[in-house]
Amino acid sequence: MNDAAEQPSATPPARSEADRVLIFDTTLRDGEQSPGAAMTLEDKLKVAVVLDTMGVDIIEAGFPISSNGDFEAVCEIAKVVKNAVVCGLSRSSFADIDRAGEAVKFAARPRIHTFISTSPVHRKWKLNMDAEQVIAAVGASVARARNYTDNVEWSPEDATRTERDVLLRCCEIAIKQGATTLNIPDTVGYSVPEEYYALIKMLRETVPGGDKVVWSTHCHNDLGMAVANSLAGVRAGARQIECTINGLGERAGNAALEEIVMALKVRHDVLPYWCNVDSSYFTRASKLVAAVAAFPVQYNKAIVGRNAFAHESGIHQDGMLKNTETYEIMTPESVGLSKSTLSLGKLSGRAAFRDKLKQLGYELGDNAFQDAFRRFKDLADKKKLVFDEDIEALVDQEVATQTNRIKVIALQVVAGTGGPQRATITMEVDGHQETREATGDGPVDAIFKAIKAIVPHEARLPLYQVMAVTEGTDAQAEVMVRLEEDGRQVTGRGSDTDTMVASARAYVAALNKLMMKRQRGPAAQMMVS
Ligand code: KIV
Ligand code: ZN
Repeated sequence: MNDAAEQPSATPPARSEADRVLIFDTTLRDGEQSPGAAMTLEDKLKVAVVLDTMGVDIIEAGFPISSNGDFEAVCEIAKVVKNAVVCGLSRSSFADIDRAGEAVKFAARPRIHTFISTSPVHRKWKLNMDAEQVIAAVGASVARARNYTDNVEWSPEDATRTERDVLLRCCEIAIKQGATTLNIPDTVGYSVPEEYYALIKMLRETVPGGDKVVWSTHCHNDLGMAVANSLAGVRAGARQIECTINGLGERAGNAALEEIVMALKVRHDVLPYWCNVDSSYFTRASKLVAAVAAFPVQYNKAIVGRNAFAHESGIHQDGMLKNTETYEIMTPESVGLSKSTLSLGKLSGRAAFRDKLKQLGYELGDNAFQDAFRRFKDLADKKKLVFDEDIEALVDQEVATQTNRIKVIALQVVAGTGGPQRATITMEVDGHQETREATGDGPVDAIFKAIKAIVPHEARLPLYQVMAVTEGTDAQAEVMVRLEEDGRQVTGRGSDTDTMVASARAYVAALNKLMMKRQRGPAAQMMVS
């Protein structure tokens, strides 16, 4: 077995700048484009800080012209990020580029990423432009972006389905006008690794000035080949990979950042490249993104899925007890997964709780800490074993609760055979408490009706999902609720040892997001009775 497999987080032996791969994270832009994955400003700032701390080179913070919320998010992220380049996306129109330039100007190291579709199908159906018009727009947009910063990235959207001659001319003019990074998106996840390798190699070798710019990959996962294609691009000379935490992104998602980085580390023998990202943040980052985007990670997801380091069969367990290398090609610690899953109990004090929060990457202010500690004690009273995951769920919930207009104060449910099931809920809405009772077709239906009686709305419920955060009959339930209204989708998450309480919290979390979206959009304010 190679050395990297034994010690994946160790520094690879020889690191030349020529072999360095820049990690460009687009969780906050392409990732947020996943249906239902909208994040609040506070959530985005938390994610940006973790990305910056783990050593991501470029953070694509948003698409400033798309909404005032996105503009504000890019501005605020630009102000807090210390090390990474902060990038704003724009189409090719001058209004888009100017808005991106305005947003990233607060960054210590700003970048504008401008793009236009180049493929025949996009030119015809999206842009209604011919190839010559697109080529002219490329030159003009890059030149415009250069008025704001020297750090300009240009992308031909749907590059992999673009005629090679058109693509070459677009890339040439982008470089002539001063683009410093050329990103080649496989927008619809159509490529296979050999093909993507050949495309990047051809562009690097053929486009005049191609040896002076950084070539970048941006691969979607529609055929499950996003990571393989990205790595093929690197072998062909690309030195930036665009990716997202948990592979979040449009449709089937983007290349997963954690998979890319661990492939470079574990298989350094065949992929002799390196990057600056500290993989020990992966578990924390994955959980944070899953929580704030309300987007669960599939159990068998590579690197960060809950089964990624779990060994079930007797034969495997026997091997693991003798030597972990029998079934593990990287250590759980190298991706930030602590071996000791047993955490604190009801006798644990504030110091131990604070220390555990620190280990898990949380820094809470005094009030938030006191509230979280109170909830931890309540949980420890109800639950024999309190795991790290329980504490993370509890703190994420606490932080969300503090920023919300609607809160669940108390819930009583009558369930069982012989219905109708009945729920009585007390909620605080903008500081005022109100109690309502409702009956329903099952306890969850009754709870949601009672909530709706306090906060009337017309939103549909396309998703209600229950999962257990940890194991055992006293496990915390994690509930996810998606609401849809006027084409807007929001997802809320709630956790508690009581599935009904978790359901109420998740529903209310989604309502809070919906209210926030309504405030941002032109639609009228939500009526609160
Ligand atoms: O997938 C894509 O083509 C994109 C571009 C905007 C870079 O996300
Ligand atoms: Zn994309």
